[in-house]
Amino acid sequence: MRPVWWGFGLLAALTLLLALHPVVAAGEPSGGHQAVQKGDCAMCHVTPGVAAPDRAGSCVSCHEWVRSVSQNPSARAKAMEFFPLWPRYERNVASYFAVPDLGVAAARLDPAWIQEWLGNPHDLRPAMPETMVRLGLSSAELGEIAAWFGAQQVPVPATPTPDPSNIEAGKNLFATRGCIACHSFGAVYPGPGIPAAPDLQHSRKRMKADRIVAWIQNPTALHPKAIMPNLGISLADAIQLRDFLMLADPGGSTAKAPAKLTKLPRPSCDGSSPPSSTPTVRWEQVESQVFGKICVHCHMDPAQNEGRAGPGNAGGFGWAATGIELQSREGVAKHAPAILEAMLRRREELPRDVVLPGQIPANIQRPTKPGMPLGLPAIPDADIQLVATWMGEGCPG
Ligand code: HEC
Ligand code: HEC
Ligand code: HEC
Ligand code: HEC
Repeated sequence: MRPVWWGFGLLAALTLLLALHPVVAAGEPSGGHQAVQKGDCAMCHVTPGVAAPDRAGSCVSCHEWVRSVSQNPSARAKAMEFFPLWPRYERNVASYFAVPDLGVAAARLDPAWIQEWLGNPHDLRPAMPETMVRLGLSSAELGEIAAWFGAQQVPVPATPTPDPSNIEAGKNLFATRGCIACHSFGAVYPGPGIPAAPDLQHSRKRMKADRIVAWIQNPTALHPKAIMPNLGISLADAIQLRDFLMLADPGGSTAKAPAKLTKLPRPSCDGSSPPSSTPTVRWEQVESQVFGKICVHCHMDPAQNEGRAGPGNAGGFGWAATGIELQSREGVAKHAPAILEAMLRRREELPRDVVLPGQIPANIQRPTKPGMPLGLPAIPDADIQLVATWMGEGCPG
C-alpha cells in the first residue's frame, strides 16, 4: 500500500522541525482587511496585518520547506525515512517560491489598477510558472481591498510629465544599468529575467508616473522588503528610464489559445458499466502525474488530513465549498465529467494567465467557472489525454 504523505506525519514533522513564520503586526480592522481574509491571500502572499498560516496551511512555506530539507543532507535523510515518496516530492515541487509580498505591492501599485486586475488577472512575471488565482470575491470586496492597500502608500515627490524625447536615452540606460538582468520589457527586452521581477511592459498601467521614478531611485524607501536593490540611479536617469517604460512600444504578439482538444473519450466512471478488464491506464499513473501531484493540494480528503480539506474542497479564495476531494480514486471517479471539463477550461484561460517572454496577455472572455488547476499552467495535453483515457476505461484502480 502506498503510504499517505499528506497526513498526520507531515503535519507533525513540520511542527516539530520548524519554527512558524513571524506574525505580522495587526492592521486596522476594516472591510479591506476582512476581504483579504476571506480571499485567503496569506496562503500565498506575505500580507500586511494578516498572520501567516501555519506551514501545513500555506502554499508557500511548505514548498519552501521541501526545498530547504532537500538541500540539507541530514534533514533529507530523516525525511526519506519518514516519507517514502520524498524523492518524488523534491523532484516535483516547483511553484510558489517567489510570490510577491503584498506590502511591497501596496507601496507602489495604483489602487485602481489593483481593483481592476484582481477581477480579471493576467500573467505579469514571465519567469514564474504560477499565476494569480481568480478570486470568488465581489467587485465591492475587491474595491475595499484596493482602498486598504492604497492607504498604505507613502507620498512621493512630483516629477515632470513623461516626455517621448527621453525614450531612446531611457532604453539605453535600461540595457546598461543592469535592469535586463532581472526584468523583461515586452518584446524589446524579452528577458525572461528572474521569477520575482515583473515584465515592465505592464508598469504604465500599474503605477503612477511619479511613483515609478521614486521606485527606480530607491525601492526600499517605498517599502523595506522590496527585493529590487537600490542601484544608485540619479533623478535625471530615473526620469529617462520611466519615460522609456511608460511611452516606448513594448511590441510583442498576443498570446494565443491552444487549438481545441477533440476526440477525448467520454468518462464512464458512474458505475453503470464495470471498469475495463484490460485497462491501458491505472489510477496509480494518473495519481502520480496529475491528481496527487497537483490537484490534491487544493482538493484534499479530510479523512486523511486531520480534517483539512483545502480551498478547492472546503471553499477558499472567496469560492464556496465544492465537496470535491481528488486524493482518492473514488473521489476522482465521482466527479469525472466535471474534472475533464474543468481541465479543458484552463486551456481557454491560458493566453491571459500564461504569457511567455515577448508576448502580450490576451483579452479573452473567460469561462464563467475558473479552469483547473486554478492559478497554475494547464495540465499538459498528453496528461489530459491520459486522464480521459483512464476515465473512458471506467476509472480502473
Ligand atoms: C494560490 C496563491 C495565491 C492566492 C491565494 C492569492 N494570490 Fe495574489 N498572486 C499570486 C501569484 C503567484 C502572483 C504573481 C502573479 C504574476 O506575477 O503573474 C500574485 C500576484 C498578486 C498581485 C500583484 C502583485 C505584484 O507585485 O505584481 C496582487 C495585488 C495580488 N496578488 C493580490 C492578492 C490578493 C488581494 C489576494 C487575496 C484576496 C491574493 N492575491 C491571493 C498567488 C496568489
Ligand atoms: C504540507 C506541505 C504542502 C502544502 C501545505 C502545500 N503543498 Fe503543494 N506540494 C507539496 C509537495 C510535497 C508536492 C509534491 C507532490 C508530489 O509530487 O507528490 C507539492 C506539489 C504541488 C504542485 C505541483 C508541483 C508544483 O510546484 O507546481 C502544485 C501545483 C502545488 N503543490 C500547489 C499547492 C497549493 C496551491 C497549495 C496551497 C493551497 C499547496 N500546494 C500547499 C507540499 C505542500
Ligand atoms: C536584482 C534584480 C533587479 C534589478 C537589477 C532591477 N530590478 Fe526592478 N524589480 C525587481 C523586483 C524583484 C521587482 C518587484 C518588486 C520587489 O522588489 O519586491 C522590481 C520592480 C520594479 C518596478 C515596479 C514595476 C511594476 O510593474 O511593479 C520597476 C518600475 C522597476 N523594477 C524598474 C527597474 C529598473 C528601471 C531597473 C534598472 C535600473 C531595475 N528595475 C533593476 C528586481 C530588479
Ligand atoms: C489552487 C487551488 C486549486 C487547485 C490546484 C485545483 N483546484 Fe479545483 N477548485 C479550486 C477552487 C477554489 C474551486 C471552486 C471554484 C468554483 O466554485 O468554481 C475548485 C473547483 C473545482 C471543480 C468544480 C468545478 C465545477 O464544475 O463546479 C473541479 C471539477 C475541480 N476543481 C477540479 C480540479 C482538478 C482536476 C485539479 C487539478 C488538475 C484542480 N481542481 C486543482 C481550487 C483548486
